[in-house]
Amino acid sequence: MENFTFYNPTKIIFGRNTQHEVGQEIIKYGKKVLLHYGGGSIKKSGLYDEVMTSLKNSNLEVYELGGVVPNPLLSLVNEGINLCLEKQIDFILAVGGGSVIDSAKAIAGGVKYEGDIWDCYSKGVTLSDALPYGTILTLPATGTEMNFRSVITKDDTLEKRGASFPNPTFSILNAELCATLPNYQVANGIVDMLAHLFERYFTNTKNVDITDRQIEAVMKSIIELGVDVYQDPSDYDKYAQIMWAGTIAHNYSLCVGRETDWATHQIEHELSGMYNVAHGAGLAVLFPNWMKYVYHHDLDRFVQFATRVMNVEPDFFNPEKTALKGIEAVITFYKKLNMPLTLKALGIDEKRIDELALLSTRNNTIKQGNFVKLDTEDIKQILLLSCAGD
Ligand code: NZQ
Ligand code: ZN
Repeated sequence: MENFTFYNPTKIIFGRNTQHEVGQEIIKYGKKVLLHYGGGSIKKSGLYDEVMTSLKNSNLEVYELGGVVPNPLLSLVNEGINLCLEKQIDFILAVGGGSVIDSAKAIAGGVKYEGDIWDCYSKGVTLSDALPYGTILTLPATGTEMNFRSVITKDDTLEKRGASFPNPTFSILNAELCATLPNYQVANGIVDMLAHLFERYFTNTKNVDITDRQIEAVMKSIIELGVDVYQDPSDYDKYAQIMWAGTIAHNYSLCVGRETDWATHQIEHELSGMYNVAHGAGLAVLFPNWMKYVYHHDLDRFVQFATRVMNVEPDFFNPEKTALKGIEAVITFYKKLNMPLTLKALGIDEKRIDELALLSTRNNTIKQGNFVKLDTEDIKQILLLSCAGD
């Protein structure tokens, strides 16, 4: 196990009706709040009115910036930064899914940064200061509600990149708010949170049984409850568990002391940046093929995954077969969620594989991943595997 420092300052307010507490939380930070949201789901569901009531009850002065799109754009981030500076906003409240929260993070950082906020995404500039911001999560998936990451797409070049900012001060997690989610978005979220666990589980670090077992428990819970919430997002008791699973899958507590991978996420960001596909759907296509490409690197770990997580009966004479059955079981799970499984199903032109592979390695200047370090040719092979299948 490697040395680590773990610090996660986000206060979590979890449970039924907790959205009504939002005004009381924000008033601790100032009077002027920017309400940031997406394309209108919060207005349809009635959440917008509930939030407004809570903010007004705490005598907050509310400004609004809606219109965040899935795969959120830099142009709206810049609009938000200018609005905050002009109106001298004290606090940003993000109400929505990962895209809205990531956009709010960038605005919060941009208000305190003298340069172009895209520097954080393109040059890895890390900001230690940001305007305080909080979230009401409506789509369990990304884990952004309790972490320091933000992923933004630059409008003109379609580059989709990640950056680090201070965490949200608080996040309100009420699974009742998930009842209005389209089934497809529920499925994207489940695939994404599971992927955050895969990125942590497949590691070269030894003596990490404690986090292995913790990750396995969360993966198993997601697999056991995932199809049920996909079919019925209004099942509070099940979705509340999935919601918390999504948060802990990516709040960095489950990867303490271990190396993580992230190659699949990096490749996926090229797909969703260029083709505007949902992040979860892109991961469903790529992850099984990443697994097929790398499992030889540590067969024992893949056998452990197959038997402990995917309930595969071990074949002691043929560990490779056991490992492959584990990967097949992941695909079977995705099928139950009606996820796309090929690039074609995502609407991606197979002729652009070379270009996507080169983008993933920034024109051969970096490798992706840690479990196995992938160069452009490796990524091309994974993308080719992603063309096949059913
Ligand atoms: O925009 P609205 O109208 O709100 O509709 C959204 C959107 O169309 C809808 N939705 C959300 N909650 C709803 C709802 N519809 C009905 N009822 C509700 N309760 O769902 C659609 C998708 O929302 P989005 O926020 O885009 O999805 P998600 O939460 O999956 O976020 C995806 C983004 O997060 C990034 C992804 O790359 C992608 O850009 N990620 C961020 C991470 C992070 N910051 O740590 C890590 C992840 O790996 C990921 O990269
Ligand atoms: Zn993800």
